[in-house]
Amino acid sequence: MNRRYRKTIIAGNWKMNKTISETKAYAEAVKPMLGKPKWCEAVILVPPVNLQAAVRAFKDVKISVGTENCHYEVSGAYTGECSADMVKEAGAKYVVLGHSERRAYYNETDVDVNKKMHAALRSGLRPILCVGESLEERELGVTMEKISYQLKSALSGITAEQIRRVVVAYEPIWAIGTGKTATPAQAAEVCGAIRTLVRKTYGARVARSMSILYGGSMNANNAAELLANEDIDGGLIGGASLDPETFVAIVNASNQD
Ligand code: 13P
Repeated sequence: MNRRYRKTIIAGNWKMNKTISETKAYAEAVKPMLGKPKWCEAVILVPPVNLQAAVRAFKDVKISVGTENCHYEVSGAYTGECSADMVKEAGAKYVVLGHSERRAYYNETDVDVNKKMHAALRSGLRPILCVGESLEERELGVTMEKISYQLKSALSGITAEQIRRVVVAYEPIWAIGTGKTATPAQAAEVCGAIRTLVRKTYGARVARSMSILYGGSMNANNAAELLANEDIDGGLIGGASLDPETFVAIVNASNQD
């Protein structure tokens, strides 16, 4: 973290978990524990059908709300999809784009992710762009090439004004849901490389102020050590964010004076 230049963000990606009533119960549980995070923005990312309820439930808690995907077209015959305008109007501030689960299970390509980035930014959303290598790619020694390709493709055509609203999350696929967290050194190396790539295209000031998160089996025990790195500005947390106490513990780990 580097609080002088950029915001720390602790974001819980709920994936396909929790109903509306469970969302309300979670907010009630978090409320007395959370207080007012001074140094970080706490965010919960929910399925679109729960957005409005989540916005209402988290209104009195200092937690921002976002969602986990959006379509790149403004409207049309795309059965089952939600546009960026729809999720924005339902109350989303953030939207996760390019998550490895969407790339793997729904065949999202880098071109799709780029189109979604443009759609999200046009609608006034803040995209949390996910990039990350597979275990095979890490073992082949092509991690940086993969990250660079995903990042460059996703940001193609994004202007200097728009990039200020983009958050990047480094999520090594081998660390997601596996309990195998990247070491702080591995995570910091890639997050630092992402900042360098952003600097090359958008300049030092933009790179310095961009929040770059780590995701992949982050929990209350390893958060502080990961966040101690200058280039890791927060976390994108799956499983551990589903439990209110654990989520608050991670927020607190990022929020020490
Ligand atoms: P886990 O924290 O469950 O590994 O998930 C990480 C993730 O995919 C967040 O987007």
